[in-house]
This record gives sequence, C-alpha cells and structure tokens, in this order.
Amino acid sequence: MNYSDKIIRSATVENMADINGVPDVQAFTRLYSALSAQTIITGFVYVSENGRAMQPLQAGIVNDEQAAAWAKIRQALPDKQLIMQLAHVGRQTTRSGAVGASTIKCTYCKAPVRALKKEEIKQIVQDFAQAALRAQKAGFDGVQIHAAHGYLIHQFLSPYTNNRTDEYADRPLFLEQVLKAVRDACPAPFLVWVKLSHADDRGLTLADTLATVKRIETLCDGAEISYGTMEYALNIIRGGIPIDLAFKVNPLFNKYPPLVARFWKRFVFPFYKRRFKPFTVNYNVQAAAEIKKHTSLPVFVTGGIRTQQDIDRILSSGIDKVSLCRPFIKEPDLLTKLAGNWKSACVNCNLCTIYCDSMQAVCCHLGEKNEI
Ligand SMILES: Cc1cc2nc3c(=O)[nH]c(=O)nc-3n(C[C@H](O)[C@H](O)[C@H](O)COP(=O)(O)O)c2cc1C
Repeated sequence: MNYSDKIIRSATVENMADINGVPDVQAFTRLYSALSAQTIITGFVYVSENGRAMQPLQAGIVNDEQAAAWAKIRQALPDKQLIMQLAHVGRQTTRSGAVGASTIKCTYCKAPVRALKKEEIKQIVQDFAQAALRAQKAGFDGVQIHAAHGYLIHQFLSPYTNNRTDEYADRPLFLEQVLKAVRDACPAPFLVWVKLSHADDRGLTLADTLATVKRIETLCDGAEISYGTMEYALNIIRGGIPIDLAFKVNPLFNKYPPLVARFWKRFVFPFYKRRFKPFTVNYNVQAAAEIKKHTSLPVFVTGGIRTQQDIDRILSSGIDKVSLCRPFIKEPDLLTKLAGNWKSACVNCNLCTIYCDSMQAVCCHLGEKNEI
C-alpha cells in the first residue's frame, strides 16, 4: 500500500514561536522536514489575540509578520502537503478575558469566562476566515478548523457549555458559519478540514456528532475524529499520567510548594486519576467507522493507532486516512519503516504531552526521570 496520502501527522503543539506568536522558521523547517509524513497538520494556531492558548509559545496567524514566517516555512518544504490547524481556545485558557459560548468555567483552567455577544461571534467567524486566507496566501494547502478538545467551537457544540437562548442554541450553527466563511474566503482546491470530538465527558454524544457531520458535510473536505475536552485532558490522548512532571512544568500545577505537591500526589491523586480512561489501542476507530457509515464526507481517525496491521485494517474498512501524533514524536521517520510489521515505539508515557504546556519545544522525553 502507498501510505503517503493515507497516514497524516496529526496536529501537535510545537512551542516553536516567540512570545508574539511568530513561528521560528528554522525550528519549524527542521521539525517538519524530519517528518516522513507527506501531510502535516500544524499544531493549533490562534486566529485572534483573544483566542490564544495558555502556551506562551503558541504560533498565530493574525498579522503580516506571522504570515511571512509561515510563508518561509512553506517555501522551505515544497514537497509537503501543509495544513494549518486554526483554533480559538474560548474558555480553555489561563489568560485574562476568556470568552466562551456561556459563562460556565473550565474546571481545568479555572479562569472566569464571559459569554460572547452575537456581534462578537460574527467577528470570530470573520477571524477564522481571515486566518484561513492568510494561510492560503502563505502557500498552505489547506486549513483544519479545530472544533474538538473543548476549544471554542466545541463549546458551542456541547450541550454542557452551550446554554444559549439565541440562535446559537442551535449548537452546530457557529461551526457551520465558520466553514461557510472560510470556504467563501478560500475557494477550492484549498482544503478545509475539521477536527471533531465524537463525544466528551460532559454530555456530548456520538449522536450529536453525527448530526453535526450531516450539517457540515457539504461545507468541508474531511473530518478528523478525536475525543474529549481539556477538562479531562488525558482522555483526549490516554496513557500515562506523569503527575510529577506536571508539578514541575505545567503552570496550573507548578505554583504549588513541594510539600503541597507531595501531599496532593499521595492523598488526592489516587482519586483524581479515576476520572481518566485507560489507554486502549484505536480508541476512536469505532466511532469514526460509525460516522463514516452515515456521511459522504472523507473521515480520518486519530487516537492510539500503533501498528501497521491496525493501520491496514482501519484503511481497508473504508476510513479515508489515519492520523498519528505521538508515534511521529517518537519516530519522525516512521513511514520509511512500514515493511509489514511496524509497531510504534511510543509507549504513551505522555511526558511530551505535559511538556507541551511548558516553554519547551516538542520532542520525545521517554525515559526521563521526573520524580518530585
Ligand atoms: C504533545 C501533543 C500535542 C498535541 N497538540 C495538539 C494540537 O495542537 N491540536 C490538536 O488538535 N491535537 C493535539 N494533540 C492531540 C493529537 O493530535 C492526537 O489527536 C492525539 O494525541 C491522539 O493521537 P495519538 O494517539 O497518535 O497520539 C496533541 C497531542 C500531543 C501528545
């Protein structure tokens, strides 16, 4: 099988911009040229200042300086298909002035949230369209609209965070408007993909997501199926819970003195970790297959795909692409190793995941000791 247009690099926070959101051209070029994936989805890129994530080194696409840097990265990688993931974090930020579908706070980020007014929603729709246009002008092949993992669009899709009484009580409406605006700004062949959580831990169900997919299937070119929100962040990725490292590098945890951290680890952590789902391979495949049955839209799947055998089986079942994140962090050259029995060397320790909330550029940290 020719895997080059079947296996994609799932969006992965790089932490390779400066504090003004300007991507470091050399660092991105080095990272992306080492990746054997033909198609690379960037880590989430902010579409407006008030949509920035808590990661200080997140890249943006809101001004000419950022766009010029992206254009240089594009020019340095003429053979790659580059897709920029566009995101507005909504309530999932520690920055002041967080906005959301409603005032319901994120129990992970804890920042107060202001519910968006209708005129502000219209502005954010335009921010997505402008960001997509900048990405297109920078030479990108497409964008992926981040509607998963509890970020702003997911907050509108979710029955838990969307308690609105205006027209946005129709939960898929905001995503639909974003996609229409992006499509109008950037006509085909520019690709418009979407990332969706098929369900979450707060009441969003597969039935909701099937209804959303029906609403958007003519407005985009593919949907990547994921899971969850940042409130239960480790359910998005699953696997190890490196709590020691979180107390060292995650700004939501490292403010606690060592004694408090040790107490928390000993007495609270055993209960805390019960909220997380264990890692199982291919954990979103069943939901993606169900979605595929009901739509003409190309469907991609991410989450725990770790062997060539599984990749072959998933693709032959009709899923259009598989999307890998941690396996590419561990083995950037993995596509050159697909001789029949490839098995990922990633053990899902999730040290990379915890570091992505720090100032460190993404890489594999397997084997590092991180005891508090
Ligand atoms: C270090 C790290 C950074 C990530 N950054 C993003 C991101 O920017 N946007 C996104 O949609 N998902 C992000 N994810 C989730 C992945 O794209 C992917 O959906 C998830 O890790 C499951 O795939 P895997 O089992 O192949 O790692 C990230 C995951 C990790 C581990």
